[in-house]
Amino acid sequence: MVKKIPISASAPILEGKQYHLACGPKDIAPYVLTPGDPERVGKIASLWDSFQEKAYHREYRTVTGFYYKTPISCTSTGIGSPAMSIAVEELTRIGAHTFIRVGTTGGIQPGQKMGDLVISTGAVRLDGASRDYVIPEYPAIAHYQVVQALIQAAQELKIPHHIGITASADTFYTGQGRPGYNNYFPSTKQNLISDMQQAGIQNFEMEVACLFTLASLFKKRAGAVCVIIANRVTDEFEINDEYQKRAGLVASHAIKILHQQDTKKSSIGSNS
Ligand code: URA
Repeated sequence: MVKKIPISASAPILEGKQYHLACGPKDIAPYVLTPGDPERVGKIASLWDSFQEKAYHREYRTVTGFYYKTPISCTSTGIGSPAMSIAVEELTRIGAHTFIRVGTTGGIQPGQKMGDLVISTGAVRLDGASRDYVIPEYPAIAHYQVVQALIQAAQELKIPHHIGITASADTFYTGQGRPGYNNYFPSTKQNLISDMQQAGIQNFEMEVACLFTLASLFKKRAGAVCVIIANRVTDEFEINDEYQKRAGLVASHAIKILHQQDTKKSSIGSNS
């Protein structure tokens, strides 16, 4: 008779794999890119030297490989902060220590162009999931080493980019100042874009604040680079594979930079 291994309801692991991600510690590298769309995982990994698919369960698709000899993984997180929170939880439990969200975004500042990148230094927590973890006053801040590596990568690859604060909402429409169905538009959302513009916010998307909050609570590093596919000033919208490739390339290159720095630090015994 096969012996049944009991599964803990508070931390479910099935045959050595995390319940949602279907991955175990041997399936991922400690450096993980986290796009939302599972389809983008293959596109990002095609920029690497080699990769293997490790799991594809619900919205979570994971591949692991090498980029310029740097071990690297990419796991899709689905749309929104609740799904992102599960990815960060389970990736951290199996050994991830550095995360970079690679996403698409809506730019809200004049002067931004379609296809430009936004590198986030922090995020306005307009999401609900991060409030399940910590008080709303707690800041969602990127790790400085990841921000530096992303800026260096974008500069070396000569890809146009903006650096600053992102706003992460739970919804694509009213939460980002777009009218809902049948022109439903609560007064609290009608001035959202201009309020955020005045506050110097660069862009809207849906996952960065949750990633930054959880990563810093868990003492891990996180950053984000998103490509502008919606321009909320000129009212343009465009899906373009070449533009999306830019974000994947900059994020992979930043991981290479961080890995080189980490390797150098561990050889001289520094942990700063
Ligand atoms: N993703 C978002 O969340 N908002 C946009 O405007 C574009 C992509």
